[in-house]
Amino acid sequence: MSSLVPRTALADGTLMDVLGYGVYKVPPDDTEELCSTALDVGYRLLDTAALYGNEAGVGAAARRYLETGTREDLFITSKVWNADHGYEATLRAFDASMELLGLDQLDLYLIHWPCPSKDLYVDTWRALERLRADGRVRSIGVSNFQEAHLERLLAETGVAPVLNQVELHPYLQQSGLRSFHERHGITTQAWSPLGRGNVLVDPEIGRIAAELGRTPAQVILRWHYQHDVLTIPKASSRERISSNLDIFGFTLDDAHLSALDALDRDQRFGSHPDTVG
Ligand SMILES: NC(=O)c1ccc[n+]([C@@H]2O[C@H](COP(=O)([O-])OP(=O)(O)OC[C@H]3O[C@@H](n4cnc5c(N)ncnc54)[C@H](OP(=O)(O)O)[C@@H]3O)[C@@H](O)[C@H]2O)c1
Repeated sequence: MSSLVPRTALADGTLMDVLGYGVYKVPPDDTEELCSTALDVGYRLLDTAALYGNEAGVGAAARRYLETGTREDLFITSKVWNADHGYEATLRAFDASMELLGLDQLDLYLIHWPCPSKDLYVDTWRALERLRADGRVRSIGVSNFQEAHLERLLAETGVAPVLNQVELHPYLQQSGLRSFHERHGITTQAWSPLGRGNVLVDPEIGRIAAELGRTPAQVILRWHYQHDVLTIPKASSRERISSNLDIFGFTLDDAHLSALDALDRDQRFGSHPDTVG
């Protein structure tokens, strides 16, 4: 069965699901089962990272899916961790991730954080370019990059990432960065799209959810979708995993969108990219 989720074309032509299952903080022992649940209810994109320590579980679920499904239907993302910045270290880190995933090719590989204090993200980016040229990964991108970091990659390598995965939810809407992405053909993907659960209790979101007969999570994920922002919500029960996917059968009208847009307050629930390194 192909995806229930619409796909969007990245700047390099790769088609990518607009919504996937993220596995940060999913315990390694539960990862295969929860990813298999996600695949069973219709997800096809799984978002992991070397840091999460659960690439083996993601790979096991992907390989279980491939017993009956096709590789083209799946979309697997992983990320190179901060300790592995630099050209050679990144190539080694990629090999280690692929060994754990047990796959021949990755769909998307990201630089997890720019780590400006290390000042190695341009070398790291050149390693990702090499991996793509060698056909080991289909698309390459970044995460937590701010405008200045993206400008530098463009200036020094001439190659823009196809995607930047950043913290983004109604309390942190990143409008300046999103405009920059639009000008440079970079797709925006939101991590912590639900603000790690904190935004779900917002009264305005609750009001809209009640009006539409939807959950607060569905309203937030639909808001991202209507703003062309990709999402990778994490959840730990079949019911939540499944209901978070059910956002393609209703629409937020202009009044709903304006009310949600008005919630922006520059509030992070994760780290600021300047402080991670
Ligand atoms: N690139 C980066 O630096 C970076 C950083 C952070 C995260 N990420 C990625 O983004 C993914 C998502 O971010 P996140 O896990 O931080 O936060 P999130 O998806 O915004 O929120 C997850 C939280 O919301 C709860 N939740 C999910 N669906 C719900 C529902 N329908 N009803 C009520 N509660 C619900 C979950 O609870 P339960 O788990 O208890 O169900 C969990 O506590 C991660 O898994 C990871 O793949 C990337």
